[in-house]
Amino acid sequence: MKRGFFVASFGYTNMCGIIGYTGMGNALPKITKGLSVLEYRGYDSVGLAARIGEEIATVKCRGRIGALEEKLKMQITAESHTAIGHTRWATHGGPSDINAHPHRAGRVVLVHNGIIENDGELKRELTAAGRTFLSETDTEVAAALLDVCYDEQNDPVAAIRAATARMRGSYAFGILFEDRADEVFAVRAGSPLILAKGADGYYLASDMTALLPFTSEYACLEEGEIAHLCASGVTVYAAEGKTHTPVWLHTDMTPEAAQKGGFAHFMQKEIEEQPHAIRQSLSPRTASGLPDFSADGITPDFWRAVGSVQIVACGSAMHAGLLGVRLFEELAGVPTTCHVASEYRYHPPVAREDTLVILISQSGETADTLAALRDAKRKKLSTLAIVNAVETSIAREAERRIYTYAGPEIAVATTKGYCTQLSVLYLIAAAMAHAKGMIGEQEARALVNTLVEDAPAAVEGMLAKKEMLRSLAELVAQREHVFFIGRGSDCALAEEGALKLKEISYIHAEAYAAGELKHGTISLIEEGTPVVALSTEQELYDKTESNVREVCSRGARVILLCREDAPVSASAEKTVRLPITSHAATLFAALAALQLLAYEAAVLRGTDIDRPRNLAKSVTVE
Ligand code: G6P
Repeated sequence: MKRGFFVASFGYTNMCGIIGYTGMGNALPKITKGLSVLEYRGYDSVGLAARIGEEIATVKCRGRIGALEEKLKMQITAESHTAIGHTRWATHGGPSDINAHPHRAGRVVLVHNGIIENDGELKRELTAAGRTFLSETDTEVAAALLDVCYDEQNDPVAAIRAATARMRGSYAFGILFEDRADEVFAVRAGSPLILAKGADGYYLASDMTALLPFTSEYACLEEGEIAHLCASGVTVYAAEGKTHTPVWLHTDMTPEAAQKGGFAHFMQKEIEEQPHAIRQSLSPRTASGLPDFSADGITPDFWRAVGSVQIVACGSAMHAGLLGVRLFEELAGVPTTCHVASEYRYHPPVAREDTLVILISQSGETADTLAALRDAKRKKLSTLAIVNAVETSIAREAERRIYTYAGPEIAVATTKGYCTQLSVLYLIAAAMAHAKGMIGEQEARALVNTLVEDAPAAVEGMLAKKEMLRSLAELVAQREHVFFIGRGSDCALAEEGALKLKEISYIHAEAYAAGELKHGTISLIEEGTPVVALSTEQELYDKTESNVREVCSRGARVILLCREDAPVSASAEKTVRLPITSHAATLFAALAALQLLAYEAAVLRGTDIDRPRNLAKSVTVE
């Protein structure tokens, strides 16, 4: 049995989602159900194509699945046993009924995740050959190209092979051919697709969560493979032409894991799940009481040989990396730098033979992080991925991988993903420190204990204070600008606090090194500006307190997150006390407080918390 789960989806346009089915069952309720599970990825239009007798009926619209279901009631009354569906997040062409998938060209109807980079050139060629186009999408170009190839080859697999050979970019396609009743075809390169076997038929999806309502038997379609699904089974055509049937695996992820379970939002549920997620992520690596990554195929010798580390990631994962820098350098004495993945290639940091590149990604599909990974591999650097969604591109392509086991994260703004990344980075720091002799066995055991016991307990403690954080959020929610300040590791944590707030509440939030604020940004502090000050490091308390005084004297209203043993602040308006059982406890409690503050502020402002505007869960465009 495979441990883990999928939160994949993610093709280059990702955010888009694909589901397909063929079998004895009623396809349409399955497709709409699957699409509703895929909603969380963020989308602006939705559609499906269903085989009805000799024909393929297509229904699609801009907007939500509810709108599609209304249209469906009017347009398709007969039962269908073969269908494909899609949620689209616009890239080529704005959100509209016409640009929504599926797209049809001649005998071909398809849905697509990804971006065809040479669509302009292909479109010119196809137009010259007499093809016309209704939409602005690269997907319709792909459909037309496939239809031309199908006319030439009259064989679906050969046609798919010929058409995709002409495409540059990345794609996952679900395809129906008009004259191939009850058959669904699929192909992928660069965007994931998962096949699944249910009680009454076969499925494909870009995201395993979409299939959990129907089955837990799945198989991954590999890069370049073509799948042919029919009611009696699935045949996979490997890139070099050989065929095989999928080896079905079992996922122990439950449909409930991908549902709200009584919480108002997925984000709220995921914040609450953090103590469990930390324990899940650490327990396979701490059974002996010492940091032990042997189950991940990583030995102490490996850690011992690491001379320097480059951490590369995007968004919150990069923020986790910023804290990783501190942990690796302070605990293990390993020179470490952290890089925004989208910039990594333009100014590659100097690497040595013993440099380890660590890629962090919840989704495992973030395009910039993947590109950085490939770049590092080209340079023959050792690579290690810290990923949550198993079997995703980053996890597969990295030389080594450590899964975070946070469970499926549905809310766009990551919480438990980040929290488990941080706990794994902490454990890696302990493993490296121990392997390199920077700390002895006793200290390593103590560190493990703080991570396994104190960190989740500290998060639980902060969750118990959510009423208080709700009231503090009122101070923040009324304003349009909020600053987060801190020194040392609080600088990195402040970055995550600010990002959480702006992502979901749309309040402009900026993180600043507390001492740097006075070199310009303090001019933005005015009467009533909320400032969230972090003070988790005992030795930095006094200095941070001076900065709190500085902003207060300019009218700021300060929420101070500080250690339990810190003296009472003379200036802060509100204080949140953090446990001091260990450094990990203080850090993780502060993190939970920041998440709750952002969440409650967003609740007060009535935003779409799980699907904030303009954002996507997995950004698979560079
Ligand atoms: C998106 C998400 C962020 C996430 C970032 C990196 O921007 O909205 O929450 O931190 O991507 O994603 P990854 O899946 O690579 O961790």
